[in-house]
Amino acid sequence: MARRPIIAGNWKMNNNKAAAKELMDGITRGIKELDASNMPEVVVAPAFTALWQVYDMIKNEPKIALAAQNVNPNPQGAYTGEVSLEMLADFNVKFVIIGHSERRQMFNETDEFINQKAIAILNAGLTPIICCGETLEQREQGITDKHLESQITKALKDISANDVEKSVIAYEPIWAIGTGKSCDAIEANRTIGEIRKVVARLYSQDVADKIRILYGGSVKPSTIIEQMAQPEIDGGLIGGASLKADSFIDLIKGAMPLSTVR
Ligand code: PGA
Repeated sequence: MARRPIIAGNWKMNNNKAAAKELMDGITRGIKELDASNMPEVVVAPAFTALWQVYDMIKNEPKIALAAQNVNPNPQGAYTGEVSLEMLADFNVKFVIIGHSERRQMFNETDEFINQKAIAILNAGLTPIICCGETLEQREQGITDKHLESQITKALKDISANDVEKSVIAYEPIWAIGTGKSCDAIEANRTIGEIRKVVARLYSQDVADKIRILYGGSVKPSTIIEQMAQPEIDGGLIGGASLKADSFIDLIKGAMPLSTVR
């Protein structure tokens, strides 16, 4: 069974209400022109402060799903500054990005905490987008595959096969994020193939064949066609190039069969 591609825009700490509205106006306008039956799953991840704005604009637009950039795995209570899954579900949030290298590096998030988040997200009926990726140093030392195996194994601890096959992984080499230096598509394909083998070893080939694995790191309209042509790459998690409607629409088109895009 073919895996449906995903194009996910990670807005990071960008876009106030007005900017979110302008961007979503452009995206919803552009998406109306596209053939729904051939479209990837389109996901946008605004900052929490713009969630309501975007939720309100897409509540009648089934072609776009909402994601959050973070969540706290606890149900409620004294967690100043945090947001729960119940709060996200209230805004019809379907996906939550976890394990992003920016959160691992700047906010000291551990593999164990990421695993707790993944379990809570799945228990709440949402889908985690679990990020993994190596530093330049790790790549140069030749320990990329080992490092990714460790990140994935720890993130998926105690999660059932049923839940894993519904989850999404995003392979994001840290040296490619926000640098303009995208990982070579063939190499990204190879690495994602290795991640799929880890899932096959932990679960089964069937689960590995079903889970969707995205590439992230300086994805642009000029790189997406080659990336999407790779059999292991099921879509993109996109930062910078998701902040302009035209380029985000071009990325969506890049994940559609060429004959279906006018
Ligand atoms: P980028 O970010 O596309 O700006 O490199 C990707 C990400 O961090 O998810």
